[in-house]
Amino acid sequence: MTFTKSTIGVGFLGAGDISILHAAAVKKCPGAQLVGLWNRSQDRAMQRAIEFGCKNYKTPEEMVADPNIDAVFVLTNLESHLEYTRLALKAGKHVLVEKPVGVSVAEIEQMRSLAASKKLVCMPGHNYIYEGSMIRTHELVAAGELGKIVSAYVMYNIHHPEEVAKRYPGVVRQILTHHSYILLYLVGKPVELCAMKATLHYKEYPEEDIAMVQMRLSNGALAHFCASFAADDHAADPWTVVVKVIGTAGSTRYSYRDHVEIKPGLVHSQTYTAYQGSIINEVRFFLVDCLRMGAQPLSTLEDAITAQKMIEAAEESIRNKSVIKL
Ligand SMILES: NC(=O)c1ccc[n+]([C@@H]2O[C@H](COP(=O)([O-])OP(=O)(O)OC[C@H]3O[C@@H](n4cnc5c(N)ncnc54)[C@H](O)[C@@H]3O)[C@@H](O)[C@H]2O)c1
Repeated sequence: MTFTKSTIGVGFLGAGDISILHAAAVKKCPGAQLVGLWNRSQDRAMQRAIEFGCKNYKTPEEMVADPNIDAVFVLTNLESHLEYTRLALKAGKHVLVEKPVGVSVAEIEQMRSLAASKKLVCMPGHNYIYEGSMIRTHELVAAGELGKIVSAYVMYNIHHPEEVAKRYPGVVRQILTHHSYILLYLVGKPVELCAMKATLHYKEYPEEDIAMVQMRLSNGALAHFCASFAADDHAADPWTVVVKVIGTAGSTRYSYRDHVEIKPGLVHSQTYTAYQGSIINEVRFFLVDCLRMGAQPLSTLEDAITAQKMIEAAEESIRNKSVIKL
């Protein structure tokens, strides 16, 4: 199943904002090349194909049929992930599918069984955990070096203008999905959770721009998530994106603020180098470690299913103002 070809050809389905980060990541990946893309609106497709120096396919079917393409990145909106993932897997291509992977657990299960039956890799776009310091925390926790884990925190406070937020679901699905797979990777599954949400800065968009979740883990430890598009944190040692794991014998921290470039990001008010960096690492892991060397993704479709169950439990908790058992 592993690749011996000198160059792995990549194709993008969807050429919105996130494709810019993926194109830069493929460019940095040894032995890989962006062959072409398809996007629903042709104006954007043509513009991005010129920017990325690749081919523009007229239809997704034409792209997945190209023998020069070995791996497809599904970079469209959430509601169409299943359709394009199925199309690519059926054409025999490996897939990297952006998060949230599917609209429901059943959708992700369909992707998992199709990928397994075709013996193809279908990797969730769970980019944050491909950072060196996340991998180190995972290893320290797994080896027991932090002692008994007592708490874990994933905090996200990045202002998003309403017109950008409107392209996505609310922060529960859009951002807490990141928090969920991060928690699973670092310290494991929660056994119960409760959540709250609010809409604080949008004028018209009815979805939430802030949400928080409290959880109990199987060893009795507690965990907390915050996801906010409502405001940036400008105070000292800001909680822009912070991940903390605290144990009786040690603790670790990951922060977006470790590297900041004073220029606007695509949506962010500054450029957090770790954002692009995590996608560079994720793409390299998919193309080199998984496809060439046969490694398992660090976060699998099984983890995407568990993350989706956590999201649906948070939604239920918000609806019923209750604590949900997982
Ligand atoms: N990993 C991350 O940190 C991260 C960050 C941002 C976005 N994302 C994910 O990436 C995906 C794309 O986000 P984006 O920021 O590029 O959004 P975007 O709105 O900039 O682009 C989405 C693209 O999908 C296309 N599209 C929309 N509906 C479609 C449909 N039904 N069929 C075919 N094409 C369709 C649009 O034409 C557009 O080009 C989403 O799933 C999003 O959740 C991930």
